[in-house]
Amino acid sequence: MKNKAFLFSFLFLCLTVQSNSLSLDYYKHTCPEAENIIKFAIARALEDYPGIGAGIIRLLFHDCFVRGCDGSVLLDPSPKNPKPERSAPTNIGLRGFEIIDEAKRLVEVFCPGVVSCADILAYSARDAAELLNGIRYNVSGGRLDGKVSSADEAEENLPPHTFNLKQLKHLFVKKKNMTTEDLVVLSGAHTIGRSHCSSISSRLYPSIDPTLDATFAKKTLSPQCPPYAKKDGVVHLDHLSPDTLDSDYYKNVLDRTVVFFSDWSLLTSNETKKLVVEYATTPGDWEKDFAESMAKLSELDVITDPTKGEIRKNCRAVNY
Ligand code: HEM
Ligand SMILES: *[C@@H]1O[C@H](CO)[C@@H](O)[C@H](O)[C@H]1NC(C)=O
Ligand SMILES: *[C@@H]1O[C@H](CO)[C@@H](O)[C@H](O)[C@H]1NC(C)=O
Ligand SMILES: *[C@@H]1O[C@H](CO)[C@@H](O)[C@H](O)[C@H]1NC(C)=O
Repeated sequence: MKNKAFLFSFLFLCLTVQSNSLSLDYYKHTCPEAENIIKFAIARALEDYPGIGAGIIRLLFHDCFVRGCDGSVLLDPSPKNPKPERSAPTNIGLRGFEIIDEAKRLVEVFCPGVVSCADILAYSARDAAELLNGIRYNVSGGRLDGKVSSADEAEENLPPHTFNLKQLKHLFVKKKNMTTEDLVVLSGAHTIGRSHCSSISSRLYPSIDPTLDATFAKKTLSPQCPPYAKKDGVVHLDHLSPDTLDSDYYKNVLDRTVVFFSDWSLLTSNETKKLVVEYATTPGDWEKDFAESMAKLSELDVITDPTKGEIRKNCRAVNY
């Protein structure tokens, strides 16, 4: 009798431990080299294509805001699910998928079937931030990969560049339980990477949006994004230092030389404007806060219950 009770409590303990939360060094026993392998893959990719760091950091945001950080953004269209998140218009220009594939491939060589794609993406974004500008934060492991991915949900949960501050706050604060400060801080990711001309042409044509600096629009953006161009070109998000993860973005916000209306809209309340001024003028403040907000973003609505998620074999497809 006593033994039985012991056995039951032991089983109960196992079940509760299994459906646990995230933890640092999560793969310590099951795949001790996992984080090193991933970092190696990201470092190698960044040497060849510095812009890919921006791609990975945006991938994390687009993963975590839609059904949480569950790798759902990584899924390819399939006959069973022809319209996953990736195919949503809001996901225009997403890049870095090949790098996640390569990291997964290497990790699978050492410990097959152990490390989730959602964790690989979260670790990769952390490594990109460190490699691009020494910004460090801790990322726990233990996310499971989701099995659901829908373009409509991506459209509902990710902000279009036309959003004003009220709409951005509704999304970040009301829907995602982040703070207004997180919104201002994470928008600073637009200090690296690029935008397609199609994402900004409404601010240039037929006339220049008054919230955009007219000289910057005419001299810098318009020549790279001429009207009626056949090909959808790209422009840097931060014209001052396009590949550096620094706080120059906030100088651009103050100068009205940021490419999206949503970036400019951070000037439209005292609360957000104060932060913009702080980050533009006090060295180190943004880097510190960015690390904190990225760590928080990386843990949004994660799946840890094994009945609700899986460890994908291939990051682009759910296990059959
Ligand atoms: C606040 C609302 C936001 C809006 C409206 C927004 C919108 C956009 C748009 C339209 C693009 C360009 C896509 C293209 O045309 O190729 C872009 C790029 C980018 N976004 Fe955001 N974004 C927001 C927040 C964020 C956040 C929170 C992060 C990360 C923490 C982020 C990281 C990036 C990065 C790194 C790029 C460049 C990607 C690349 O070069 O491949 N954005 N964003
Ligand atoms: C990461 O976590 C370790 C162990 O808890 C801690 O010593 C370290 O200060 C943390 N690093 C950062 C950047 O938060
Ligand atoms: C919202 O975030 C706070 C910390 O910022 C946390 O304490 C709280 O549990 C969160 N609420 C929900 C519903 O997730
Ligand atoms: C900002 O604060 C000032 C007073 O400090 C006030 O006059 C002004 O209306 C506020 N602006 C906004 C956009 O809230």
